[in-house]
Amino acid sequence: MLLARLSLADFRNYQSLEIELQPGITTFVGANGQGKTNLIEAVNYVATLGSHRVASDTPLVRAGSTQAIVRAELKRDLQSTLVEIEINPGRANRVRINRSPVPRPREVLGLLRAVIFAPEDLSLVKGDPSERRRFLDDLLVSRNPRFAAVRADYDRVLRQRNSLLKSVQGSRPGNTPTTLSVWDDHLLDLGAELISGRLNLISSLKPYVVAAYETVAGVGSDVDMNYVAAASGISATNSERADVRVALAQALSEKQREELARGLTLVGPHRDEMFLGLRGLPVRGYASHGESWSCALALRLGAFDLLRSEGLEDEPMLILDDVFAELDTRRRDRLAQVAAAARQVLVTAAVAADVPAGMGGVTLKVNEGQVDVL
Ligand SMILES: Nc1ncnc2c1ncn2[C@@H]1O[C@H](COP(=O)(O)OP(=O)(O)OP(=O)(O)O)[C@@H](O)[C@H]1O
Ligand SMILES: [Mg+2]
Repeated sequence: MLLARLSLADFRNYQSLEIELQPGITTFVGANGQGKTNLIEAVNYVATLGSHRVASDTPLVRAGSTQAIVRAELKRDLQSTLVEIEINPGRANRVRINRSPVPRPREVLGLLRAVIFAPEDLSLVKGDPSERRRFLDDLLVSRNPRFAAVRADYDRVLRQRNSLLKSVQGSRPGNTPTTLSVWDDHLLDLGAELISGRLNLISSLKPYVVAAYETVAGVGSDVDMNYVAAASGISATNSERADVRVALAQALSEKQREELARGLTLVGPHRDEMFLGLRGLPVRGYASHGESWSCALALRLGAFDLLRSEGLEDEPMLILDDVFAELDTRRRDRLAQVAAAARQVLVTAAVAADVPAGMGGVTLKVNEGQVDVL
């Protein structure tokens, strides 16, 4: 799927914008604070219904406005799809596909598949486990949009179960309300599905990340990725949903006393972690700045290659925000080769000289929320 046209109304610092985009590489150049990242954030919103920078939608709406609108025209062969998203912080967003309202915004997921690499991604390897869980779950949804519902349902069940546990906090095991066992079942079903999905994803993703690290860093470095579950008995070799459910159920019953004491759900995908290692040592807390950066980039490029390998008809878009400035010349050239092979790539840079000369494509100038051909 190609993004052929993007229009924004009151999104970040864009009052009104309409641009056409081509296949291949488009580079957005402009001084700091002009709106380069805002622009690719809008594109990524169409792909994921979320921002890669902020957790809430409020900052996405231009100061002084109540609503932002992002419109994207997607093209695949001769077929074109118009996606329109009304971002209404504090109220439900509204989505139209080909001018027809859809009952749930998440129906838009999967139409445009994109992998974005941005400076914030350093927290993918340096930040807390929630960053890596989000990475995995976003990629699960890109690979298979059905997981959007699993994830949303799991979050809802977790909230309900936690508030029930809070309300009976301090009670003794064996003396719990029957509604708790209903929530236990939902938690186990959805939790097992999510964990099993993540385990299979890591198995598929790992070889691509290892190869991407080599591409970026120029050396093979024994990159390791492993799922670490809060419940014991869950591992890559035991990734079937039914097996995961059994292990989760066992852990849940072992933790019942502690859960009742703390009023909190202590097992499930929300407590899990993805371990990243380099030459036998954890990346987090051990790797150098350059190694951490290469590792984060390798995760994104690996994700991109995985998606690409699975949908040749439907190549994902690659978005590289401000990445070249951080890399030395050799790494820049290697990344440029990766970009040259992709179907559609959006690149941002504050200085045109940071982008390798041979990249080619179209360069657009971003200035105070306006975009012009350079
Ligand atoms: N909701 C908003 N309303 C109005 N302006 C906003 C809003 N959110 C962000 N901005 C403005 O957008 C600008 C930042 O844009 P952006 O992050 O896209 O910059 P950039 O071109 O990527 O710069 P850099 O090269 O520093 O990364 C800031 O000046 C900020 O004040
Ligand atoms: Mg930026």
